[in-house]
Amino acid sequence: MPLRDASSNQLLDYSRKQGDQRESITTSGGNPVPEKDASLTVGYHGPILLQDWVLIDELAHFSRERIPERVVHAKGAGAFGYFEVTHDITKYTAAKVFSEIGKKTPIVVRFSQVAGEMGSADTLRDFRGFALKFYTEDGIWDLVGNNFPVFFIRDCALFPNFIHVLKRNPSTHIRPDYDMFWDFISLREESMHAVLMMFADRGIPASYRQMHGYGVNTFAFVNNQGKFFYCKFHYLTDQGIANLTSDLGNKINGTDPDYLIRDLYNAIETGNYPSWTMYVQIMTPEQVSKLSYDPFDDSKVWLHAEFPLIPIGRFVLNKNPKSYFAEVEQLAFDVAHLIPGIEPSPDRMLQGRLFNYGDTHRYRLGINNTQLPVNSPFRVNNYQRDGQGALQSQNGAPVYHPNSFKGPEEESRAKALSPIWPLVGDAQRIDSGHDDNYTQARLLYKRVLKPAERGRLVDNIVSWLKNANGVIQERQIANFAKVDEDFAKRIKEEINAGSHPQVNL
Ligand code: HEM
Repeated sequence: MPLRDASSNQLLDYSRKQGDQRESITTSGGNPVPEKDASLTVGYHGPILLQDWVLIDELAHFSRERIPERVVHAKGAGAFGYFEVTHDITKYTAAKVFSEIGKKTPIVVRFSQVAGEMGSADTLRDFRGFALKFYTEDGIWDLVGNNFPVFFIRDCALFPNFIHVLKRNPSTHIRPDYDMFWDFISLREESMHAVLMMFADRGIPASYRQMHGYGVNTFAFVNNQGKFFYCKFHYLTDQGIANLTSDLGNKINGTDPDYLIRDLYNAIETGNYPSWTMYVQIMTPEQVSKLSYDPFDDSKVWLHAEFPLIPIGRFVLNKNPKSYFAEVEQLAFDVAHLIPGIEPSPDRMLQGRLFNYGDTHRYRLGINNTQLPVNSPFRVNNYQRDGQGALQSQNGAPVYHPNSFKGPEEESRAKALSPIWPLVGDAQRIDSGHDDNYTQARLLYKRVLKPAERGRLVDNIVSWLKNANGVIQERQIANFAKVDEDFAKRIKEEINAGSHPQVNL
């Protein structure tokens, strides 16, 4: 950790800006405070008077300073910037954010750890969140992605279970609990592709600036003719990828647990603005039926050879938040915040996410979370009013619809861009766990990873798997054998070479 850097000079910078000026202290009501550092007592040893409204104001606010942390992705860093269109994709989408080359849209981005709590260390092995909020003329568009293109499960019904195994064991309050983690992973084989990615080199990024981002789930574009296309979003770092080894990551955790937050803050504060180039993959509905894999399964990638990356724009982060709490902790991304021209797909993880983010924000931040400045669209015209923390009255517009008093009406353009989905099928619960779980994982292991990377992957897996009980180890090693026999053999040998429970296949 550097001795002095932009982040450690924050207070010094404030003090310099103030010059000779010093404001007077007030209560939360703006009333000047006569004495800040002493409570109002009867005599020197006397009890404190209830009349000490200054103290009560201070203590009451203090007890309410913390709100529930995000149930996942609790620790993170945010920054502001802009997105600029560099390529014309209007043949695919009518979304105004992409309407012309050179168009700029303000954005805010939040990077995060997935599993750890608010105080967790930055350089632990984990997926990283990479969420974007676009403040468009058609309202907010939130693209809530990760730094890997696939996810561990493909049905949202499993999400709370999957997160539970990453979190603390509620009996011991210890994390990670290796039995919980590997038990679930070994029983849900669709996790294999994501597991290989997490334990490979990119599992510990050296900087939030030096990782790619992916929308992961499949979305749909609708163009001005009402034709729709399925799409996936990619945002690739212009800084180049950089990762930490497990050893270095663990070392940094002990000396600078906020390493990634510090790196982002300092880069932006010193004018070294990070940027990403944004791409989409496009699939027509006709192509869907001919595919050998399910394009709505978020444990799969769309092969680039068949679905090349089409450039669409670039985004730059050039401003740090002034208040972490107001602008990052209260920042709320909602997958259901979509704009005309961008629609959901049948991806069943996405379908669950469409409900869950708004719901968690109502719990974490309250019903009017979209009115907080950092979450607020440029315009809101609706028939919702009031509730805790309400900031808007919509200038006296009617509060019921239909009405005869010029209240807001539906937009014909938005109506025209709403696709009609032909849906057929019986309502049923289908466990998708036995779909193809290995073809793409095998491709990653055998074709994408280089020999040295495969070696580090084995070491990283062993460093976690060696702590699980023998039965679970065996089951997971049998799953690794379905990726590659030699891969599983190396893991087994390395575990058996240590003083760990013996594994017999
Ligand atoms: C059914 C599956 C999923 C559910 C139910 C779910 C639910 C949640 C919830 C409840 C939060 C906390 C939000 C908050 O308190 O503000 C969250 C955060 C997040 N999720 Fe998911 N999630 C799911 C899958 C995914 C997937 C597949 C990705 C990656 C594409 C993802 C990326 C993120 C990110 C980046 C955040 C942090 C957003 C921020 O920075 O505030 N989630 N998720």
